[in-house]
This record gives sequence, structure tokens and C-alpha cells, in this order.
Amino acid sequence: MDDRLRWGTEDDREALWRLYQQGFGVPDRGRERWIGRLVPERALVVDGAHGELAAAAQIRSFHQAFGGRAVPLAGYSPVAVAAEHRGRGLAKAVMVGHYADLRDRGEVIAGLFPASVALYRSVGFEVAGSYVQRRVPAAHLAAISAPSDLGIRRGTPDDVAAVHRCYARLAIEIDGSMLRTPEAFAARLPPDLADTYLYVVDDPAAPGELAGYALYRHGTARPPYDYSVVVAEVHADSPDRRRALWRVVGSSGTQAPVVEMIGPAEDPLWLLVGAADPEAVRSEIRWMLRLVDAPGAVAARGWNPTVRGSVDLAIADEHAPWNAGRWRLTVEDGDGRLEPGGEGTVEVSIQGFSCWWSGYADAHALARAGAVRSADRRALATLAGLGAASPPTLVDFY
Ligand SMILES: CC(C)(COP(=O)(O)OP(=O)(O)OC[C@H]1O[C@@H](n2cnc3c(N)ncnc32)[C@H](O)[C@@H]1OP(=O)(O)O)[C@@H](O)C(=O)NCCC(=O)NCCS
Repeated sequence: MDDRLRWGTEDDREALWRLYQQGFGVPDRGRERWIGRLVPERALVVDGAHGELAAAAQIRSFHQAFGGRAVPLAGYSPVAVAAEHRGRGLAKAVMVGHYADLRDRGEVIAGLFPASVALYRSVGFEVAGSYVQRRVPAAHLAAISAPSDLGIRRGTPDDVAAVHRCYARLAIEIDGSMLRTPEAFAARLPPDLADTYLYVVDDPAAPGELAGYALYRHGTARPPYDYSVVVAEVHADSPDRRRALWRVVGSSGTQAPVVEMIGPAEDPLWLLVGAADPEAVRSEIRWMLRLVDAPGAVAARGWNPTVRGSVDLAIADEHAPWNAGRWRLTVEDGDGRLEPGGEGTVEVSIQGFSCWWSGYADAHALARAGAVRSADRRALATLAGLGAASPPTLVDFY
């Protein structure tokens, strides 16, 4: 490991907080929440000359759904360099310093929400999904047609555990979803439902379980209106239930004309909405992914069970050299594997391979961007055909 780096300890908690406070402009009142969420032993730090921390990158462990499986993810959050130490490569150093440890821990992929794409791309990450904040007219949601007899009821704190289970069942099928711990869930669904509106549909086939839910909060609105509806999320196990829950979310439109929501750039919600121009994008960013352990990551996610094929790759990876070199990629029966060897027919950077693995872009799009190269059009087409079909969705900012 770079000899400027060391692992954090409990004694660094205060200095980490000060570093992150400056880096992210957190007011003093945020101290308790931030200090409590620190995981010093998962932070790599650089000491400054005056007792301060010059740089730190902390890892939060999650699982993210890909191909119906839970893939262990190292979430970089947060990364910061003290202002007087910036521009000297310390951010890169604290990023790269983690890779060998992540691999040892079995965290086969790493992810982050980037402040600078160039910084993280330079150490092997690539964009992998979008995170779009929108305002949608409530009337457009209220106009979604749905049966009216689906038994939607207001949820209570007694339903919270069933909401967690319902999410776990449905989110595993949505590539990119964070598989939440109860603590991670509490930020959007407080156990006492404080300031939260929860609507649920009981599962007629499984007493005590839910077939769907919608949850939201009230936010501010421009006068003369009273409030807006800030959607945390809607999940359901059938199209009718999904449509009916979105209608409930849109039903407050006389007083709350807009509904705010977070989703991917190509949100499947538009498959339900009838209006042609229903969206106003408030902000749009992209999260990034890196394969830390390329063979481990290929084995960990699920693949299209109807697709079968092999392609020879030459992977370039400057910062995680165990990924670099010639590999044969094979997908069959829903499983994937990366085995050493082959002809290196398709050259791919670790950024390009990470992006392909996620499903964000196919091999042809990556070839146009220069992240994949091959003179063999058939091999390129094979790589395109083996990959996931659509970009992943992640609505949990970390
Ligand atoms: C972003 C930050 C971590 C960069 O730290 P740093 O030590 O100056 O970064 P490095 O010197 O390692 O720079 C590596 C690359 O990052 C990119 N980069 C660094 N600072 C940048 C900035 N302000 N704007 C855009 N890109 C930047 C550049 O591509 C740079 O490569 P180059 O030097 O070859 O041009 C630091 O400015 C910071 O702490 N900012 C506040 C908190 C923050 O935004 N954290 C990141 C959250 S994801």
C-alpha cells in the first residue's frame, strides 16, 4: 500500500468529521448524524503535518441487485481531501489504496456518486446508471387508469416490517437496486411513520405480507398551493396494483399540483403515464461502478438464462492489476465466468468492462466511446449479445 496511507481508527472519528464537514459544507448541527454514521476502520486516511487529516475515503458495504442476485458492493462514501492538500493526487491515492482490501473482503464491485467523473474514471470507475430528480404534474399520475377495487389501505407502523419484506422480494428483480438494511430503510420509511404517508395492498395469497406499497412525504409548494408530494417510492407485484398506487400518489393534485420523485433517466413510470410531456427534470446525475474483482463480479451477478456464448477479452486495468490480461468470458444457463487465457480478441478497459457488466451501455456503444476495441465484428456482436439488456436503477443516494 502507498506509504502515505493508513487505516482509520476510533481515534480518528473527530478528525474525519471535521474533514467531511469542510468537504461537504455540513453545518455544525449535522455533527451527531455524521459522526454516528462514520465507520473509521473502513476509512483509508492520509495524515497532514499539523495533526489534521489531509484525505480520507470511507467504505460503506451494501448489496446491489444484478440479474436477480445480491452482489456485494463497496460504496465509497464519503471521499474528501482537505482544501490545503488538494491537487496533489491524494484523492486518487485513497481511492486506489482500498482495492486489494475490497478484493480480499469479497466486495467484488465498488460504486459511488461522483463529484467529478474524471477523478473516478481515472482510477477505473465508469458511469453505470442515472439518478434523476423530477417534478411531475400530479394530474398525470391521477389519470393513470386502474381498477378501483384493489383494497388499498393506509399503512400503519405495524406494516413497516412487511414493507421491508415486500421491497426485498421486488427489488432483487430490478438491476441496480440497493438491498436495504432496516437502518438504510429508516431514512425513507421511519418506523413510527413520522411525516410519512404509507399506502399498502395486502397480499391475498399470503396473510401478513404485502403485494405493494407507496410511500411519500409532503414538501413545500409555490403559493397559492399548499404542499407538494415527495415520493419516496412505489413498488407492487402486479401492473394493476402499481397503477392503482401511483393513482393514489397523484390524487392530492388539487392542493399539491406537483409530485417530486427520483428515478432513472428512462423511468418505467412513463410506460404508465398518458401525457406526452409529463416531466420536468430538476437535476440529473450518474452514479459510477468499478469491477474490483472482475472474475468474482462476473460470477456474482445473474445473466440472461436464454443466452449462451463466449468471447476472448484483453482487459486493461492499471490500478487493480489482478484484473488485467487475457480472459475468456462465458455466459451460459444464467451464469457467467471469466477464465484466464484466450486470444484477447476484444480489448476492453476496466472502465468499459465495468460499464458493460452493469448493463448501462452495450459493446457497440462502448466501442464508439473507445472503451472497447476489436477488429472482429463478430466478437463485438457476441459481447453485445451476452450483456444485460438495460441500464440499472439506483434510487438510494449514498
Ligand atoms: C474532489 C476532491 C476529493 C479531489 O481531491 P484531490 O486530492 O484534489 O484530487 P486529486 O489531486 O487526486 O485529483 C485527481 C483527479 O481528480 C479530478 N479533479 C480533482 N479536483 C477536481 C475538481 N475540483 N473539479 C473537477 N475535477 C477534479 C482531476 O481529473 C484530477 O486529475 P488531474 O490532476 O490529472 O487533472 C476534493 O476536491 C474534495 O475533497 N472536494 C470536496 C468534497 C468532494 O467533492 N468529495 C468527492 C465526493 S464524490
